[in-house]
Amino acid sequence: METIQEITAMPRIGDKAPEFQAVTTQGPINFPSDYKGDWVILFSHPADFTPVCTSEFMTFATQEEKFANANCKLVGLSIDGLYSHIAWLRSIKDKIEYKGMKNVEVKFPLIEDITMNVAKKYGMLQPNESSTKAVRAVFFVDPKGIIRAIIYYPLSLGRNFDELYRVVVALQAADAFEVATPADWYPGDDVIIGPAGSCGTAENRMAGKEDMDCKDWYFCTKKISKEEILNKVLKK
Ligand code: BEZ
Repeated sequence: METIQEITAMPRIGDKAPEFQAVTTQGPINFPSDYKGDWVILFSHPADFTPVCTSEFMTFATQEEKFANANCKLVGLSIDGLYSHIAWLRSIKDKIEYKGMKNVEVKFPLIEDITMNVAKKYGMLQPNESSTKAVRAVFFVDPKGIIRAIIYYPLSLGRNFDELYRVVVALQAADAFEVATPADWYPGDDVIIGPAGSCGTAENRMAGKEDMDCKDWYFCTKKISKEEILNKVLKK
């Protein structure tokens, strides 16, 4: 019998993504090894045939190509069986029209997890929110299989997919240019450069001798154009 700590343990940012094998709507997968070399978002939803989840799947499926163009694949999961997943995705395609989206085909894999094996490994079960459903968890895993960002939402709150895309682009931009991205950053906005010592001395920074804009010795930005960012991050 597992303890509550084992059921609710969560991987953390910087950890290797826990490994698992699973059955999905697109066949079996080995995670994260099948995604080596790509970014991947592993996300959970509470249940098939529920409205918020349906709106999310329609939105994600409609944007799958945009994420693929930013080198990012998508993998969904809920504590439902494969035949429920297949029936739900068929119902979405055949019957649901929402916000201009219709005939939406979900082509990315949706994991069946009736044993809750994966949900437990990823801390997707949060018993004080629901003891029978996964919360809306989002794990951003890099091409080396390392968890780089995690976002959790409660059952009642549908995710913002523009934000998920912004995270994917910002993480890749930070890696490629060795910078950080400030609040509400979008490609083309100024980026934050490293601390004094590694990026110019404090004196030179404050004397305006470095190629950067310093608000104070600890807060310096520089410009990277939207084109430079997108050239690095997006597929040609
Ligand atoms: C929904 O996706 O609509 C939903 C699922 C579980 C609880 C509440 C809402």
